[in-house]
Amino acid sequence: MRMLLKILGFSLTLILTFTAVTYVLPQMKGEAPIEKALDLGALTMDSFIALGEELYRGKGTCTLCHNNLGRAPDLLALNVEKVSLKRLADSRYQGSAKDVEGYIRESMVDPNIYVVAGFGKKGSNDTESPMPAIDQPPVQLSSVEIDAIVAFLQDKDGNTVTVTLPTTVPESTTVTPETLGLAQSPEEAIAKFACSACHSVLGTESAVGPNLNDIGDRLNSDQIRASIITPNAVIAEGYPPIMPDFSAKMMVAELEMIVYFLSKQKAIKANGTKPGEAKQTEAQP
Ligand code: HEC
Ligand code: HEC
Repeated sequence: MRMLLKILGFSLTLILTFTAVTYVLPQMKGEAPIEKALDLGALTMDSFIALGEELYRGKGTCTLCHNNLGRAPDLLALNVEKVSLKRLADSRYQGSAKDVEGYIRESMVDPNIYVVAGFGKKGSNDTESPMPAIDQPPVQLSSVEIDAIVAFLQDKDGNTVTVTLPTTVPESTTVTPETLGLAQSPEEAIAKFACSACHSVLGTESAVGPNLNDIGDRLNSDQIRASIITPNAVIAEGYPPIMPDFSAKMMVAELEMIVYFLSKQKAIKANGTKPGEAKQTEAQP
């Protein structure tokens, strides 16, 4: 697995590396993301748009919020050109974008300039966006990656793509799972986000939140995913609504590893032990 992550940087043409994340595969095994290299010399608009889609669904973390759960406009379901023109014509619009391309790019790097009505942070009266500036850590997309996503969002509804193909790669676009601090396994991800501070999981006990050792009996993958990315949408009965919001910190790969792992947590495994117990005996021989 580690070998896949090693990336070679000695091509004669410019190479843009990016993290490609397998998104929601039914048989997802919690694999770590795979590094891919993109040869700018051989880049076509079609492959650039495909890169944009991959970034949108993966490293960009866009789908953590932009989905059909209602916490952000569902960009895949909306015609982004029409939406952008509507925003630009809104009397509340204070930004400097002049066209669709500019509006999409500005939304990504300067989310507070214009906050879609009803989607602002609680109590901010739609002056502050919950969306992180995605050219900043932890997501930190390069300008080339941002352009690729803009191209994807323009193309997906059959609208004109006005973005031009990159001719150079900005410095330091090499983001690897290691530099991102990306967890490599579900166990590592659960430790990284300290889920066990509140939940019984992986052999540790905490009763602040529901027991996760048998969560697979109660919730399916979609419900588990929703509990993590919109923690207060459905509150488990008898518990306080204090589960933190991980959406701005967690990478899709980490989320999917955790969801897959938790969906397999059933009260009785084939060998008759609870997952938590099995782990504990392994850890303390
Ligand atoms: C933490 C949640 C979150 C993440 C992650 C996120 N967004 Fe957003 N985004 C929002 C919310 C909420 C809004 C609506 C409020 C606003 O206008 O800022 C929004 C607004 C937008 C808009 C303007 C939509 C409109 O209807 O005018 C675009 C375009 C956009 N996001 C693109 C992206 C892209 C592309 C990514 C990934 C690179 C991304 N967002 C990641 C939460 C998020
Ligand atoms: C600060 C405490 C806290 C932390 C940290 C925390 N949770 Fe929770 N979680 C809760 C509480 C309390 C609930 C029950 C209330 C609710 O549904 O929001 C909950 C609910 C859940 C549920 C739904 C359970 C059910 O039976 O409906 C899942 C799944 C879940 N958490 C997973 C996680 C994962 C995965 C992490 C780490 C990435 C995590 N939680 C971190 C407190 C926490």
